[in-house]
Amino acid sequence: MSRFSVGIAIGLASLSPVLGLTPEETFYPPTLNDTAYISNSSIGTYGGTYQAPTTGPTGGTPYGAYDYCSMPHPRPQEYELPDALKQGHVWGKLVYLEYLQRHQRRSPYNILPGGENQAYECDNVRPYLYAGVNSFSGIQPIPMYAQTYQDPTNPFTPGVNGTCQYPQITIGGIQDGFQHGKDLWAVYGERLGLIPRQPNERVWFRSSESALTQGSAGAVLRGVWPWYQGTLPLHQMVSSVDTVNAGYSCSAVGNMLNAIKSTPEWNEHITVTAELRSTLGSMLGAESGSWQSTFDHFSDNFQARLCNGYMLPCSLTNSSNCVTMEMAEEVFRAGDWEWNYYWRTNPDVAKYIQVVEGLFIGEIVTHLQAVLNGTSSLDYTHIFVHDGDIGPVLGALGIDALRWPAMASNIAFEVWETNDNQSRYYARVLYSGWPLKTIHGTLDWVPLADLINIMKPYIPKDIVSLCA
Ligand SMILES: *[C@@H]1O[C@H](CO)[C@@H](O)[C@H](O)[C@H]1NC(C)=O
Ligand SMILES: *[C@@H]1O[C@H](CO)[C@@H](O)[C@H](O)[C@H]1NC(C)=O
Ligand SMILES: *[C@@H]1O[C@H](CO)[C@@H](O)[C@H](O)[C@H]1NC(C)=O
Ligand SMILES: *[C@@H]1O[C@H](CO)[C@@H](O)[C@H](O)[C@H]1NC(C)=O
Ligand SMILES: *[C@@H]1O[C@H](CO)[C@@H](O)[C@H](O)[C@H]1NC(C)=O
Ligand SMILES: *[C@@H]1O[C@H](CO)[C@@H](O)[C@H](O)[C@H]1NC(C)=O
Repeated sequence: MSRFSVGIAIGLASLSPVLGLTPEETFYPPTLNDTAYISNSSIGTYGGTYQAPTTGPTGGTPYGAYDYCSMPHPRPQEYELPDALKQGHVWGKLVYLEYLQRHQRRSPYNILPGGENQAYECDNVRPYLYAGVNSFSGIQPIPMYAQTYQDPTNPFTPGVNGTCQYPQITIGGIQDGFQHGKDLWAVYGERLGLIPRQPNERVWFRSSESALTQGSAGAVLRGVWPWYQGTLPLHQMVSSVDTVNAGYSCSAVGNMLNAIKSTPEWNEHITVTAELRSTLGSMLGAESGSWQSTFDHFSDNFQARLCNGYMLPCSLTNSSNCVTMEMAEEVFRAGDWEWNYYWRTNPDVAKYIQVVEGLFIGEIVTHLQAVLNGTSSLDYTHIFVHDGDIGPVLGALGIDALRWPAMASNIAFEVWETNDNQSRYYARVLYSGWPLKTIHGTLDWVPLADLINIMKPYIPKDIVSLCA
């Protein structure tokens, strides 16, 4: 097996040593469930990439390694048929693809409480937003787009200059998305003949209510169908009951999260990061609980800068007091630890996944069950969601170790119809291009019924009473 030297980020010299990991190994740090993973600076980024220029497309050094800015995805250069088919023991044809992905890279959700020392520019992006009538003879609107600006007479400041509506998609995100779609077409359309040349009634798209996922859908699907002239429905549930992106309200979610954040393991991760949190808190005016109690906000803020061609932030009151790459790497390791804890190793993980994501997992299972029954009305579904959806789905699948599901991270549920006399349908689950490694083994070729059985325990029997 070839070994790659990783750990050198684009642009800036990273301080992490060469760990000698293959691209795939960067997905699965074996010691991620230990808080020593956070404090051990020699781990660096564990072979991951956290930097990208403003414009794309970008992804991975080398391609296939964990890349927070743009995770790898199935593309013709690397895509291989499942071994069972390559070896020719069975004949098989791809009959169904359920593709989930996080949106592409973006500006931050969390602006530093002390203010940002750099402006974010988004006037190279046109977030479209307009409404028309569903017939050609009805009113067709002007394609209006949002243009964010600042008026000097407005006494309130968002704490950051520029032209972005946070956390809007960035130019690099759109370019990454377009390439992502082109690559999916090359694999699942041109090569495997599953995605049709034109959208038809056997394709189906869905997003969360967020402008981010909708922006991604337009860019990615334009890559799939560059010449398509028509419009397409992007299905969405009413946001108050959405089964993705924490739509429905459920007090059990908050209660369980509080319990997760009171365990000895959680407290240990808070203890080992005390110095880091204190340094960042005073440098950036980020001393409130929302910045100090998890690494969500620091991680979000730093990745948005690094993944869109900006520098790490500095204090507004002392421009030589800046976040260093080592600090950022520790923040990212702590974030990875937290995600693994939320969705893999917390003591009540199965129930937590049920209340947060169980309904959505049930919807995926229903699609797969219809394929198994031979009654599916769909060949290709593509669902644009968030890290908070990808994480629990990977947890339910039993991923060996879960780093934070990064920008554009994707799960491809492939279903193959075969002439195997044991099982007519087999599934393969690719996570960001790689057959998923799980506690059930590598999900490279599993009878579809077995895959359904892996996911079923996470579907709540009665979510309404669980949530009450
Ligand atoms: C981490 O996981 C490994 C393998 O499952 C296990 O042996 C080890 O005890 C775990 N460590 C912690 C700190 O939970
Ligand atoms: C820190 O990580 C390196 C690289 O994985 C490892 O070789 C070393 O043993 C770790 N040190 C500690 C104290 O855990
Ligand atoms: C934002 O722009 C205003 C007006 O140009 C300037 O006075 C201010 O210093 C800028 N703030 C930051 C944080 O750069
Ligand atoms: C500004 O920050 C630098 C780097 O942390 C530090 O050496 C210096 O003392 C600080 N200056 C002031 C005036 O606090
Ligand atoms: C598949 O078939 C089973 C057994 O006949 C049935 O209970 C189930 O509702 C069907 N599911 C779908 C999605 O078609
Ligand atoms: C499946 O078919 C092969 C080839 O016809 C045969 O050798 C094998 O015994 C069959 N297996 C089962 C479980 O029927």
